[in-house]
Amino acid sequence: MTAHATAPAGPLLTLQDLVVSYRSRRGPRSRRQIRAVDGVSFSLGTGEILALVGESGCGKTSIVRAIARLEEPAGGQVLFRGASIAHVRGPALRQLRRDIQVVFQDPFESLDPRLTAFDTVAESLLVHRLGGSRAGRRDQVLAMLEQVGLHPAEAIARRYPHQLSGGQRQRLVIAGAMVLGPDLVIADEPVSMLDVSLRAGILRLMLDLRDSRGVSILFVTHDLSLAWVVADRVAVVYLGRIVEIGPMDEVIRAPLHPYTRALVSVIPVPETTTARRGEPERCRTEDPALVAVPPAGRGPAGTSEAGTHTDGASPGRIGADAAGPEHAAACHFAKESS
Ligand SMILES: Nc1ncnc2c1ncn2[C@@H]1O[C@H](COP(=O)(O)OP(=O)(O)O)[C@@H](O)[C@H]1O
Ligand SMILES: [Mg+2]
Repeated sequence: MTAHATAPAGPLLTLQDLVVSYRSRRGPRSRRQIRAVDGVSFSLGTGEILALVGESGCGKTSIVRAIARLEEPAGGQVLFRGASIAHVRGPALRQLRRDIQVVFQDPFESLDPRLTAFDTVAESLLVHRLGGSRAGRRDQVLAMLEQVGLHPAEAIARRYPHQLSGGQRQRLVIAGAMVLGPDLVIADEPVSMLDVSLRAGILRLMLDLRDSRGVSILFVTHDLSLAWVVADRVAVVYLGRIVEIGPMDEVIRAPLHPYTRALVSVIPVPETTTARRGEPERCRTEDPALVAVPPAGRGPAGTSEAGTHTDGASPGRIGADAAGPEHAAACHFAKESS
């Protein structure tokens, strides 16, 4: 479905030293800037699912907004298919707005209450002048509703957002995004407003879409256990920086950074697998990267769940000053490229 028949060799998306800052909210005349994103770099390959994980307020949505060109970066750049998106205009910008789709947390807010499910998806096509004839568009919309698990599509197509469940609404938002044939879908906390019982279905849908359409997904969540379900790789964000990045299973099995270890430690582990957790324990004590990490102090407000971890791995004031995080990130980079 992509407009670009030949996939380029390089990564689909690359962030280089991205910085996003906001003026401090301490009053209208305040000149203070808050660095919400403080030099973030990573790449995402075609058909890959990368999770961005970190506590609320660490800068995840700011990263998303910069990629989607909803926020002007204060530094660094975003490359899509190897080209900077900073100065894209006109038809190329319209194409970019198709190629990169964002699914936000609250499906109700993303949907127009006056549009039926059918019109919601058809509107996506119309805005981008796609879908051909009326009949062609109708077929495409119904097929898309089916593909995201809204069936029978004919019946669901007639419903308004308030007549759908939370899970159905998020599926509808995803249908509106996917019908444009994007190469990249950014899902920013896509299930955090949903009942726990509905979450697995949406996560499975994302995996299906990747498998059937080869779409790349940046999956943003504060919940490492959700990331574990869907992602190939994970980047752990802490105070506007990536402190660790690597293959999902590897990071879970042997987290290198104290903050990652704190996140891993609160993932519920089924009884049967607890025996395997002896291995990461050994990795922790033997990894030289961890020696470089300064002893943990108290984490900032909001890390209290993670901070209850008792083995001394609670996150301290890590960031620019710590040699550990960069080193830890480098370790996983090294493992990935080997
Ligand atoms: N429009 C804004 N103006 C000022 N500060 C903002 C704005 N948006 C986000 N922030 C601040 O930037 C930081 C990162 O926010 P955000 O990117 O939303 O984090 P996350 O998505 O990880 O919760 C937070 O401290 C937040 O308060
Ligand atoms: Mg957010």
